[in-house]
Amino acid sequence: MEDGKILVVEDQDAMRESLVIAFKDEGYHVEGVCSGEDALQRLLGENQFDLVVTDLKMKKVDGLEVLKAVKATNPLTEVVVITAYGTISTAVQAIREGAYDYVTKPFRHQEILRVAKKAIEKKGLKDRVRYLEGEVKEKYKFEGIVGTSNAMLEVLKTTSHVCRTESTVLITGESGTGKELIARAVHYNSLRKDCPFVVINCGALPENLQESELFGHVRGAFTGAIRDKIGLFQQAQKGTILLDEIGETLPSTQVKLLRFLQDGEIRPVGGNKALYVDVRIIAATNENLEKAVELGRFRKDLFYRINVIRIHIPPLRERREDVALLVDYFLEKFSTKLNKGKKTLSVEAKYAMMRYDWPGNIRELQNTIERVVALTKNEVIQVDDLLLPVEEFAGSSVIMMESDKRKSFIVTTLAEQEKIAIVDALNKYGGNQTKVSQVLGISTTTLWRKIKKYKIRPQHEIPDNIAE
Ligand SMILES: Nc1ncnc2c1ncn2[C@@H]1O[C@H](COP(=O)(O)OP(=O)(O)OP(=O)(O)O)[C@@H](O)[C@H]1O
Ligand SMILES: [Mg+2]
Repeated sequence: MEDGKILVVEDQDAMRESLVIAFKDEGYHVEGVCSGEDALQRLLGENQFDLVVTDLKMKKVDGLEVLKAVKATNPLTEVVVITAYGTISTAVQAIREGAYDYVTKPFRHQEILRVAKKAIEKKGLKDRVRYLEGEVKEKYKFEGIVGTSNAMLEVLKTTSHVCRTESTVLITGESGTGKELIARAVHYNSLRKDCPFVVINCGALPENLQESELFGHVRGAFTGAIRDKIGLFQQAQKGTILLDEIGETLPSTQVKLLRFLQDGEIRPVGGNKALYVDVRIIAATNENLEKAVELGRFRKDLFYRINVIRIHIPPLRERREDVALLVDYFLEKFSTKLNKGKKTLSVEAKYAMMRYDWPGNIRELQNTIERVVALTKNEVIQVDDLLLPVEEFAGSSVIMMESDKRKSFIVTTLAEQEKIAIVDALNKYGGNQTKVSQVLGISTTTLWRKIKKYKIRPQHEIPDNIAE
């Protein structure tokens, strides 16, 4: 007798029933559903299946959609697709998207039973690995950091390792992936935790003040330097300094950072005495520093000094397994904070969240949930409440392919809208970037980056050529 849970998705009644019986006879627990829509409902409720056997060609929601939903809800579940002669190319595409295998109609029960058995054995092995990883996960838990994907596990493993060292750390990742969060975790779990944690966005510092902000200056060093000024390095004494957007440092600042990393000494602007400070550097960036080195914008020797231990946080779209956990975490957090009753997402809303690409990563997801908790009165949140720029839920494959075409259209429009929103807000709040970032729900770093990207001028006017 075989063990395992199977979902059969097939719209032809006779075929479905005979498959269900064949699997049952072997001892499997089997459920059959007669459409792709029913399959999605079943999977999104709770996907505890070891194997999903699905027909490829079905009306509305087809086998490829079912496959995507399976992988989004539980990447460990195996999928075998059933294909008719003539649709082999779709079957090949299914394999590319993560299906275990395919069988071609007509087939004998023996054949599909053999494939199913092998697929379930593979799932068993993966479960075992996952179980062992689970034990590791317990070991690498940090408060307030959510995520159990393999990618996140790697991040947390390295993080907990670097907490116990004094090494310089380089954290890379797109905007909103949690670079600062990880840097904080490193500091507050290290021996330096009772000393200051200082964060500075190197790119947001006016160029002429970069060195003096970081290293201080002595009285009379330049016009306006009316008294000695202590720099951020001294303020961070015995603690940690997070140099965000390290790639934006000027060549002269890079030389000073290099000297500090080599000898532990800094020299305030205009001063001739070296000061020794005990500070750990964590650098963060969302640009490709290797590239900056190649282009000669970033010193190679400094790069090597900084890149001792690298923590790369992958974008959320590459670890979709974490979406559901993050959604629950933020729902709970904001319901409590905003004094709202318990809220849940409808099946469709959950699916939309999983399918969405999250260009703004966790920050965007967090803002989405905060907004929806604040604005939605009902207990169950629907797709429309989310205001996500996504295609219709579970649209047919045709719509999905169409979406690529539409994307470029949406991107330009969004970019324009984004720019206008930023310019408006800057005008409204007299150029106060902290206020503007709060109002727009983005970090000051992201705001600063967008101001640069859209070339928004200090007087905040909109040039005519926004659509470029
Ligand atoms: N794994 C996570 N679990 C819970 N919250 C997270 C996680 N990752 C990020 N966040 C939250 O998302 C928001 C953005 O994170 P953070 O500021 O660390 O990103 P960042 O990579 O520094 O972004 P930027 O490049 O824009 O500065 C923060 O509110 C943070 O608390
Ligand atoms: Mg940041």
